Amino acid sequence: MASSENAGEAALHGGGVDESGWADPATLSPEEASQELSRLAAALEQANIAYHTDDAPVISDAQYDALRRRNAALEEAFPALKREDSASDKVGAPAADGFGKIIHAQRMMSLANAFSDADVTEFDAGIRRYLGLPDDAPLFYTAEPKIDGLSLSLRYEGGVLVQAATRGDGAVGENVTANAKTIASIPHKLSGAPDILEVRGEVYMRHDDFAALNARQEQAGAKVFANPRNAAAGSLRQLDPGITAARTLHFFAYAWGELSAPLADTQSGAIKRLGALGFDVNPLTQICDSTAQMIAHYNRIAADRASLGYDIDGVVYKLDDLALQRRLGFRSTTPRWAIAHKFPAELAWTQLDGIDIQVGRTGALSPVARLAPVTVGGVVVSNATLHNEDYIAGRASDGSLIRGGRDIRIGDWVEVYRAGDVIPKIRDVDLARRPSNAVPFDFPVTCPECGSDAVREDGDSVRRCTGGLICPAQAVEKLRHFVGRAAFDIEGLGAKQVEYFFADASLPIREPADIFNLQARDRAQLTKLANRDGFGDTSARNLFQAIEDKREIPLNRLIFALGIRHVGEVAAADLARHFSTWDALVASIDAARPAARAHLDADAAEVAERAAAADAGRRARIKPVRDAAWQGVDPAAQAAWDALVGIEGIGASVAVSLVTTFQQEAERASIDRLVAQLQVQAVAAPPASDSPVAGKTVVFTGTLEKMTRAEAKARAEALGAKVAGSVSAKTDLLVAGPGAGSKATKAADLGIKVIDEDDWLSLIGDA
Ligand code: IVH
Repeated sequence: MASSENAGEAALHGGGVDESGWADPATLSPEEASQELSRLAAALEQANIAYHTDDAPVISDAQYDALRRRNAALEEAFPALKREDSASDKVGAPAADGFGKIIHAQRMMSLANAFSDADVTEFDAGIRRYLGLPDDAPLFYTAEPKIDGLSLSLRYEGGVLVQAATRGDGAVGENVTANAKTIASIPHKLSGAPDILEVRGEVYMRHDDFAALNARQEQAGAKVFANPRNAAAGSLRQLDPGITAARTLHFFAYAWGELSAPLADTQSGAIKRLGALGFDVNPLTQICDSTAQMIAHYNRIAADRASLGYDIDGVVYKLDDLALQRRLGFRSTTPRWAIAHKFPAELAWTQLDGIDIQVGRTGALSPVARLAPVTVGGVVVSNATLHNEDYIAGRASDGSLIRGGRDIRIGDWVEVYRAGDVIPKIRDVDLARRPSNAVPFDFPVTCPECGSDAVREDGDSVRRCTGGLICPAQAVEKLRHFVGRAAFDIEGLGAKQVEYFFADASLPIREPADIFNLQARDRAQLTKLANRDGFGDTSARNLFQAIEDKREIPLNRLIFALGIRHVGEVAAADLARHFSTWDALVASIDAARPAARAHLDADAAEVAERAAAADAGRRARIKPVRDAAWQGVDPAAQAAWDALVGIEGIGASVAVSLVTTFQQEAERASIDRLVAQLQVQAVAAPPASDSPVAGKTVVFTGTLEKMTRAEAKARAEALGAKVAGSVSAKTDLLVAGPGAGSKATKAADLGIKVIDEDDWLSLIGDA
């Protein structure tokens, strides 16, 4: 192994050599010793990463031990030269985030939730609408327990387990291959499997193993786990596979990712096949032919829940026919063909000690309940969200009453619930136990952090601080978001550290741009960072290096890091993929500015018209009032706006939020200062589809007979086409069904190609 020799050799050179290959420490000068210690540190680190993170050792255990012994011998002879990052202080495992990252070949999706029988009926109805199927067309669904563990993706190549990855953010997970291999129900080899097979499922811990583990932990004075899911997650995400092996974990297979050949043509068939290949599949899985059967199976599983021996938190329904699953496809993070029917949340009563107001990154004032600690579903809860001021007052955002209009007051007895691992919420209040002196909660109308006005905009249930960048709470939250894992992820500069620097007088970080001139400012300081308590040479150097490492940043991460309202990771990736460069994105946002105003005016005018019409008992005339708001808007701005909201995954609220952020002077200047210091990496556009409709702008009009509008749109977009709502000079193709009206005439006038539904299907190869 060439690399093993490199690792050894890197440490070996220097000094007179004895028969073991090492120079006697007594013969070395301090300079030589220091150099050798530095080479040893590099070699040991390389070996550590290769072993623990990549699971691909580059030197033998014996060679590794020899390097460590040599390191220790030199440190003994030259104690003053012992490095801060000395291998002697580590126990083999690399510090902190030691798992390698794995990009999932296919994103790991999550599931939409159903909380009532009506939600289940609506799930089926939605699928029928999407597919254009009548109510009585036969449709089959599988129903199976939703295991409360953590999901894992296992990749087999040529029948051999080559990789195991956690879900992570769905796009990128952690490499836990060595740990997964210690789980007995995960086969290392398969026979008769497709050449490439990614099996997905849930790692979980059984109740008896959980109890035994906690008893051992308690005896050893170690951490006790709150529930089997935390224990399973903590056990799988161990840097030392030996620890994982000592904890009994199990794995149920219920889905798949990349495949070189289909497993079957139904969901149930595919699961059966996984069972035959040697995976545990859940025995409570059933095929149902109606929502009534699905709900009956849900009730059976709910009744058996306590005797299963492992935790489940609901029942998952999946459309059985895989061809139909393909037609339905995915929303941004969830499939349209599956849903999780959750069990009712766990409840407990406790007293509300106080209400704190937290100010978030976008200025939202969020009320947080401080509770007398209470156990809900095995977890001690002392905070819960109260959503917003309307929720406290007993009103829903549309003005209707919640909890029968009962408000929540400090001192009240309140009912707390937890569903899954989400933040606890408050459901009800007991008026019989209300203290006589309890008064309604006065929601602040100024920001508790900066004193600026906190206002509610029309249609927004949230009150927001108007302080923008002058509000310290918003600024800190923005910085915390900026350095977060999915954003800049700067090693050694996490949430705690940005708070430290935010409050620091001599080397402050008040906005993201300040991070990237931290080192330059430090150079001009009398007291250097390296000389401060808690820092030191190495950590200051490492911090500056980690910052330098992130000066080059992929466009999607930069967009996400800005923390713009409504722009999450998925929207950021959609924007990056579409615009590919920062300059193109900014140009488009700037160009769309006048149209965003018109869009908001049109929305306001529509609301007013609806109200006026309702008062006068007449039909609302929406189109004319909306059109009026758009009067006089520069067509170029309108086109830029259409292009922005036409991007797959980007709606009007994202577009408005982008435009608003970029037009605020202080905000814009702050972004410009940041970007001036970065090299933004263009994000490659998705591989150009070879479909003849890729890159074309298509409009559908009239009645479609073989698919629904939603399906036609999703399918066209999947092939790389843009689907627009109206015909313009930019339209390439109009697909017109029977009853096509003005759009067809306009297209003919503009000389745009018009085809019917069958032509369309044969064009995209679906005929
Ligand atoms: S199917 C594309 N089936 O629930 C659909 N998920 O809330 C992939 N889960 O991330 C998921 N039991 O970790 C599926 N029987 C089951 C499941 C299950 C548990 C988990 C899974 C998923 C989460 C979504």
